[in-house]
Amino acid sequence: MAKRIMVIFGTRPEAIKLFPVIAALKEADGLEPIVLVTGQHREMLDQVLEIAGLVPDHDLALMQPGQSLDEISARLLTGIGGVLDSEKPDMVIVQGDTATAMCGALAAYYRKLPVAHVEAGLRSGNIYHPWPEEVNRKIIGGFADLHFAPTETAAHALRREAVADDKILVTGNTVVDALHWVTARLAEDPSRAAVIAPVEARFAGKRIIGVTTHRRENFGSGMDDIAHAIRDLAARDDVAIIFPVHLNPQVRAAMLPILVGLDNVALLEPLDYLNFTRLLQIADLMLTDSGGVQEEAPALGKPVLVMRDTTERPEGVVAGTAKLVGTDRATIVAEATRLLDDSTAYAAMAQAHNPFGDGHSSGRIARAISGWFSAPERHQSN
Ligand code: UD1
Ligand code: UDP
Repeated sequence: MAKRIMVIFGTRPEAIKLFPVIAALKEADGLEPIVLVTGQHREMLDQVLEIAGLVPDHDLALMQPGQSLDEISARLLTGIGGVLDSEKPDMVIVQGDTATAMCGALAAYYRKLPVAHVEAGLRSGNIYHPWPEEVNRKIIGGFADLHFAPTETAAHALRREAVADDKILVTGNTVVDALHWVTARLAEDPSRAAVIAPVEARFAGKRIIGVTTHRRENFGSGMDDIAHAIRDLAARDDVAIIFPVHLNPQVRAAMLPILVGLDNVALLEPLDYLNFTRLLQIADLMLTDSGGVQEEAPALGKPVLVMRDTTERPEGVVAGTAKLVGTDRATIVAEATRLLDDSTAYAAMAQAHNPFGDGHSSGRIARAISGWFSAPERHQSN
C-alpha cells in the first residue's frame, strides 16, 4: 500500500516551495500526497494554488484579518490535529518557519507521526530576527525525523545542534524548482504576465526597483523608515518603483499613507507568481525583507538589498548578489543610489549565482522519503 504523506502549508511562500514537492511525491512509486492547507493566508495562498493547479484535499480556512501570533497558532494546532486524527497519514511534511509549519509539525509529534522538514537548518542566530520564524524553525528542527537542508551551511547548523547526520540531506532549495517551472511557463507564453505588462509600459526607459516588505520585526519604526526611503528614491526622474503590497493590514497602514499618489511608484496588489517572476526579470534591483526573494534574486542575477540586520540566508551575501542594509532610511537610500549610479558596483552584484539549488531538489526529497520507508531499521532511534 502506498504511504500517505500529508503535506501541510498555509502561506504564499510555503505553497511556492511545496508545489514542486507535491508533484514529485505524485510521481514517486509507493507515495501518495494528501494536501492540507490551513488557509493561514487566503488570497495570497489561492494565487499559488491556482497557478500550480493544486486542489487541496483539506482547507481549514483559518485566516482572520490582523491575526495575532497566539490566535493563529491556537487555531492551527487544533485544526491540523483534527485532520491528522481523521486522515491518519504515515508522515507529515512541513516547510520553512511559519506558524503553520511549526504547528503542523507539533500536531504530528503529538500523534507520534514522523515529520519531514523541507528547508531545514536556516539560522540567523538571533531569536528576534526573523521573529518569530527563527524559533519556529528551531522547534521543528528539535524533533523532525528527516531534515531537508537546502545548503551545506544549513546542514552544518543542524549538525551543530546535534541532529544526527543520517537524518540530514542537502537537497537544494525547492524555490529554485518552482522558479524554473514558472520561468518556463513565462517563456512559453509571455502574455501570462498581464498584470505587470502595463506597468512595464508606463515605466519604459526608467530603472526599475522592485520592492516587497512584510516582516513583523520591522513593524513600527522599521516600516516607517522603509516607506520614507522608497519615497526618497522615487524622487529621482530616472527611477520607478514597482511595489506589490503585502495584504497584512499593518504593512498597508505603514506604506500607503506615505506612498500613494507618487508618479514614479506603482503600488500593486500582491502579484501571482508568474507576474512576480516577471517583475524580478525586469527589475534593475530588488529592495526586500522577504526570505524567498533573497533566494530568487541571486538565481536571476538581480542585486538584492535586504532590509534586515541579519539573515538566515547568508549564501546570497557570500555569493555577492545580496547585501544587508537594515531599515535605516538614509542607508537604504545610499545603498540603492550607489547601485544606480556606480556601474562597477552594480556589475559586481549583478552576477547570476545559484547558491540555493539546481532545480532538482523536489525529486531528491521524494526519493529520500521513499528510502526512509523502505529502511525502517534506520529510524528506530527517535
Ligand atoms: C506569514 C508568516 C511569515 C511569512 C509570511 C509570508 C507567520 C508567523 N508568519 O506572515 O513567516 O514570511 O507569512 O508572506 O507564520 N492577509 C490577508 N490575505 C492573505 C494573507 C494575509 O488578508 O492572503 C492579512 C490578514 O489580515 C492576516 C495578516 O495579513 O491576518 C497576517 O497574516 P499572517 O499569516 O498572520 O502573517 P504574515 O505577516 O503574512
Ligand atoms: N511573491 C509573489 N508575489 C508577490 C510578492 C512575492 O508571488 O507579490 C513570491 C516571491 O517570488 C517569493 C515568495 O512570494 O517566492 C516570498 O513570499 P513572502 O515574501 O511573502 O514570504 P517570505 O519568503 O519572506 O517568507
